[in-house]
Amino acid sequence: MSINSSSSKGYSRLENVLIIGNGGRENSLAWAIQKNELVKKVYLIPGNAGSERINKCERIRIDINNKNELVEKLDFLKINLIVIGPEVPLANGLADFLREKDYKVFGPGKDGARLEYSKSWAKEFMQDANIPTAKFWKVNSLEEAKKIILSSSMPLVVKADGLASGKGVFIPESKDECFKSAESIFNGKFGNSGDVVVLEEKIQGPEVSVFALCDGKSYLLLPTAQDHKRLNEKDKGPNTGGMGAYSPAPLLTKDYLDRIIKEIIKPTIDELNKKNIDYKGVIYFGLMITNSGPKVIEYNCRFGDPECQTIMPLMDQNFVFLLEKCSMGNLTGDEKIDTPDKVSGCVIATSKGYPHKYKTGFPIKIGKIDSSDCQIFDSGTCFNKNGELLTDGGRVLSIVCQDKDFDLVFEKAYKNLKEINFDGIYFRNDIGHQVRKNFSSEN
Ligand code: AMP
Ligand code: GLY
Repeated sequence: MSINSSSSKGYSRLENVLIIGNGGRENSLAWAIQKNELVKKVYLIPGNAGSERINKCERIRIDINNKNELVEKLDFLKINLIVIGPEVPLANGLADFLREKDYKVFGPGKDGARLEYSKSWAKEFMQDANIPTAKFWKVNSLEEAKKIILSSSMPLVVKADGLASGKGVFIPESKDECFKSAESIFNGKFGNSGDVVVLEEKIQGPEVSVFALCDGKSYLLLPTAQDHKRLNEKDKGPNTGGMGAYSPAPLLTKDYLDRIIKEIIKPTIDELNKKNIDYKGVIYFGLMITNSGPKVIEYNCRFGDPECQTIMPLMDQNFVFLLEKCSMGNLTGDEKIDTPDKVSGCVIATSKGYPHKYKTGFPIKIGKIDSSDCQIFDSGTCFNKNGELLTDGGRVLSIVCQDKDFDLVFEKAYKNLKEINFDGIYFRNDIGHQVRKNFSSEN
C-alpha cells in the first residue's frame, strides 16, 4: 500500500485522525488507529476518561452540533480523516456536512444511515432487493396494528420505526402484550421515532454480526462476531446494548459466509448503488441463522458495540488505511485483512440496574491486570476533580482478551475482572459459552 501521498487539504496524510463518539467502541477504534506510525495524533470528541490512557489520544470538548466551532477546530487541528462512531450524528447528516467541507469522512451520509434510522425503510429496501428477512407490516396507527395482530397466526415482534437507543424492539408473549407494546409506541414512548410501527414475524435461530467496510462501490468484510444481547446468564432477562462478544464466530463456516455474501451482502451493496446511495462507512448486518437460511434482523450504519472492541485487537496497523480508502471511494477489491492466529473475546462490566435506571459516580479500582493481549476499553467512565476514575454510564468497562482459543481468552478476561471493582459491578459469567469447550453452566 502506498503511504506517502498528501491529503486534499494539503497536509501530511493521516497525521491527525478524529473520532466522534464517547463509548468503548470509539476507544477501541482509536486504539487500533494509533497503531499506524503515520498517525501522530488521534482526537476524540468527546471520548471518555479511558481515551486519555490510549497512546497518542487527546479529547476535545466541543459540541458537534455547533457547526462553525466544529469546522474551525478541525481546520486548526489539521484533521486528515474523520470517523463517526454513533448512529445519531450519522442520521443527522454530520457526514454529509463534513464532506461538503472537503473532509475525508468514514461514515455514511443521511441517505445511507436510513438503513438504521428507519426500520420500515430498511424492510422495504430488503424487499426491493429480495434479501431474506422476516415478513413485516408497516403500520401508521393503533387501529391498523390491531387488525394485523388479531388476524396474524404467527407470533409477532413489535418495533418502533426510528432510533430508540436499542430499546425500541418488543418481543411479546401474547396478542394482548403485542397490542400493548404497539400502543406504548404510538403513545409516544420513543417520541417521533414511534410515529410508525413495524410488526414482524418472529423468527428463530442464533444471531451473528457481520461488518462490511464500504467505499460506495466495493466492500471488505471484517472478522465475524457474536454478541450477547440479554442481560443475564443463559440468555435471559431484558435486551441490552450488548453484554459481551467474541470473534470470529465459528458458527459461520466459510461456505455459510459465502452464502451470506451471495444472498445478503452483495445484494445490499447493489441495492444501495441502484438507489444512488454513496455509502462510505461500515454496514452492520445483524443476522439470524434460521432453519431456512440466514435472514437480516436489522441493519446498522455503524460498528457494533461490543463487537467493535472485540474485533479491533485483531486488526493490524493497516486498519486506518482501510478506513481512509473507504472514505475516498478507493477500495480496490484486493485488500485483505490479515488477522493474527488468535481469537478475541470481550466481557462488559455494567452498573447495577442497567439497562434500566442506574446510579453513576462510583470509584473504579483496578488491581493487577494481566496485560498481555488484554485491553480495557472504557465504555462509560469519567474523572472526578481529584483525577479518580468513576463510573459514568450503564456499560462501564469492556474487558477484551486475545489468545489461541476461546477457553484461554475468557479465562484471562475473567481473571482480570476479579481485579476490577466498583460499587454494583455486574457482568455475565457465561460470555462465549457457545465456544468455550471447558464451559459448564455450573462454573
Ligand atoms: P434489533 O434492535 O432490531 O436488533 O432487535 C433487538 C433484538 O430483538 C434482536 O437482536 C433479536 O434478538 C430480537 N429480534 C428483532 N427482530 C426479531 C424478529 N423478527 N424475530 C425474532 N427476534 C427478533
Ligand atoms: N451490539 C449491538 C449493537 O451495537 O447494536
